[in-house]
Amino acid sequence: MSHISAMLQERKLTPLVSDRKEALELLRKYVYGKTPTLTGEVTGTLTATESCCGGAGKREYVDLHFEMDGNPVSFPIVLSSPTINFDRPSRLIVFLNFWADIPNRYYPEELLMRNNFAVARIYYKEVTDDSDLADGLGAFVDRTKADAPGKISLWAFAASRALDYCLGLGRDYRGLGVVGHSRLGKTALWAGAQDERFDFVASNCSGCSGAAITRDKIGENIEHITRVFPFWFCPTYAEYANREHELPLDQHLLLSLVAPRMLSVVSASEDSWADPTSEYLACCAVSPAWEALGKTGFVHPDRMALYEERFNEGNVGYYFREGTHALTARDWEAHMSFWNKHRSIW
Ligand code: GCU
Repeated sequence: MSHISAMLQERKLTPLVSDRKEALELLRKYVYGKTPTLTGEVTGTLTATESCCGGAGKREYVDLHFEMDGNPVSFPIVLSSPTINFDRPSRLIVFLNFWADIPNRYYPEELLMRNNFAVARIYYKEVTDDSDLADGLGAFVDRTKADAPGKISLWAFAASRALDYCLGLGRDYRGLGVVGHSRLGKTALWAGAQDERFDFVASNCSGCSGAAITRDKIGENIEHITRVFPFWFCPTYAEYANREHELPLDQHLLLSLVAPRMLSVVSASEDSWADPTSEYLACCAVSPAWEALGKTGFVHPDRMALYEERFNEGNVGYYFREGTHALTARDWEAHMSFWNKHRSIW
């Protein structure tokens, strides 16, 4: 048996579920909670525009309006679009970020404009606050229900609504991505797992309840994450604190739902809280989901990744950055080059 297979066997992972609907239901029921329903259309009010990146981009500030489970809700996005004369249309990234200001340390806006990516930036706290506060989209959630959507579900739902709006503009996008780091990397994965319009899904240092296998994970575990951030998940998830092995799923199920599309995972070597080993092993465990759909999954050697190694051959890409928990320009560059490699047809 190969070294990686032996490591996976030790984790006693649950089998992948090939039925997409069933897999989504498991993740909704046990981890993230139910997905809200969109009623009607998403509309946008343009509140301002400005030039950015020394003329390499244009920003549009837009308030999105729609009905969630029949209730009127709203949140803003900032759509930055390249204005440079490229010989082909841009790709669009829905990017969930930690801060409102643009650019900021996780958002190298000019790098993205100059690489021909349009970016719809969501400042996640404007969707609903990062606490048990029932504001924004969270105002309509009944937390007494076992499958109530956690905030990750609400932020993921918002990512899809930003996509609805951008697609409604009728611009010619040649690829659609969703990107997030840490809690927002968990969110990007959940958004990408559910919304198949995203053909590129990127998770940066998402760790526990994101890209990392939960069984025998080091660093953060279900007990910690549901004690400190109970509102991120459905109430049922907390029942599995210290009972990871009884959960009828593990996080590779989440990753498998991105198949046959592109999945890009970045781990940082010093991010032991997120646990790069468990993130890498999750990638190793999901190839069957891609293979079942006639695609190559994760192409990797029979060992753990070395610092600064990148594996980009299959439709699951992995980069093991040396350094700490962050979304760096180098991570963006890794996500972009993986996507570029698999987008030879424009
Ligand atoms: C905490 C949390 C992590 C999360 C991180 C973040 O460290 O424990 O699960 O990923 O915050 O979002 O920055």
